[in-house]
Amino acid sequence: MTDTYNGVPDTHFTILDPSFIGGAWKEAWADYPTKCPIFHSDAHEDQGFYVMSRYEDIMYVLRNPEIFSSYRITIPPIPTPRPQIPIEIDPPLHRKYREPISNYFAKANQSPREPHFRQIAASLVDAVYAKGECNIADDLSYPLPVHSVMSLLDIRVEDREKLRNSLLNMTHPPGKEEDPEGAAKISLESTMWAYDYLRSLLPDRRENPKDDVLSLLCAIEIDGEPITDDDVLDYAILIAAAGFETTAASINYGFIFLAQNPDVRAELVADPSLIPNFIEEVMRFEQPTKGLSRTVSQPVEVGGVQFSVGDRILLLYAAANRDPEVFPEPEKFNLRRSPNRHFGFGAGPHVCVGIHMARLEMQVMFEEFLKRIPNFTIDESRILEATGPTYAITSLPATWPVK
Ligand code: HEM
Repeated sequence: MTDTYNGVPDTHFTILDPSFIGGAWKEAWADYPTKCPIFHSDAHEDQGFYVMSRYEDIMYVLRNPEIFSSYRITIPPIPTPRPQIPIEIDPPLHRKYREPISNYFAKANQSPREPHFRQIAASLVDAVYAKGECNIADDLSYPLPVHSVMSLLDIRVEDREKLRNSLLNMTHPPGKEEDPEGAAKISLESTMWAYDYLRSLLPDRRENPKDDVLSLLCAIEIDGEPITDDDVLDYAILIAAAGFETTAASINYGFIFLAQNPDVRAELVADPSLIPNFIEEVMRFEQPTKGLSRTVSQPVEVGGVQFSVGDRILLLYAAANRDPEVFPEPEKFNLRRSPNRHFGFGAGPHVCVGIHMARLEMQVMFEEFLKRIPNFTIDESRILEATGPTYAITSLPATWPVK
């Protein structure tokens, strides 16, 4: 017999369960939206948390930030000393942080960046092409978004690798399982290094602002007052980390899908104008950011469940993207799916600010790769994957024939 909590099934569910990797989550979560749209888990937090997976329930939560706070955005939460800006800030303050950067990331402002992103993607593929093999994660999927986002922040090329490693170690320190204390130390040292490094850039960006995101953040004023250095750094760190980990994951999952589905690959090679559709369907089908969370700030009922102030809810975006009420034949990858209003980038006021940039990066990478390498295979036995709010692929060995 199943235990219940507040009238819904009580479980030990955690998004971090390693048995969900290798795509196993797709089958495991397939029935959630229709058969068990809201359940409880006793994992991670004192009172546990609810898991929501019906598309319309999640959309309601995302569109009502005055009832569902974004603080803390993950379960378990990342223990930052201050709320992460802007992702953990609620309206009306959220808008004051977000508006100043919205235009910079708007769709219309991406096209001037395309040649630069394309040149990075092309040179990464050119660097490995003749070898007939590479590690897609190390050689392609991470370097493109790292260089793209760090060039927007105008970080010196020679400092980018160290900053990237520090940002990765903040959230994914090595040895988390075997040596949690050592890992926590690495995470703390990396966080301090990243903050100190970015802090050292601020005086110049404040005095000599340029056309870069860090200068833009330095210029933000809220109610007539400039934001503090800590705010600027929190914001910059979120943009840098959110900007590359998610994009790298999305590119990696796209490559795995293409290796496993040569028919789709052949269609894209024959007609590259389908690549934007491919990207949207990969985001729906693979949903690299599996789930993020909200905290109830007013009593409310959703889907027949009464929630109380302080309740935590994991919004299982990946399951909702396969809700048959919204996506016909959700388990089928449909290159021509329309409409395709997936939760790949979230929705509502916190919808991903980098959505157009991420789409562009993915597009130039798949175009430049498939143009040169139409056939490739991936050694699935050597894929390394890690769970988290965003699942990550850290190793993706690929080979292809070289003429
Ligand atoms: C394919 C790549 C990406 C994915 C899958 C992704 C995913 C997401 C998701 C799901 C959210 C919504 C969070 C919520 O539930 O409230 C989000 C927000 C955000 N993303 Fe992305 N993201 C990607 C790329 C980027 C890039 C390239 C940047 C910046 C350079 C970026 C910066 C942000 C920021 C700043 C927010 C917070 C927005 C707010 O709170 O108003 N992301 N992202």
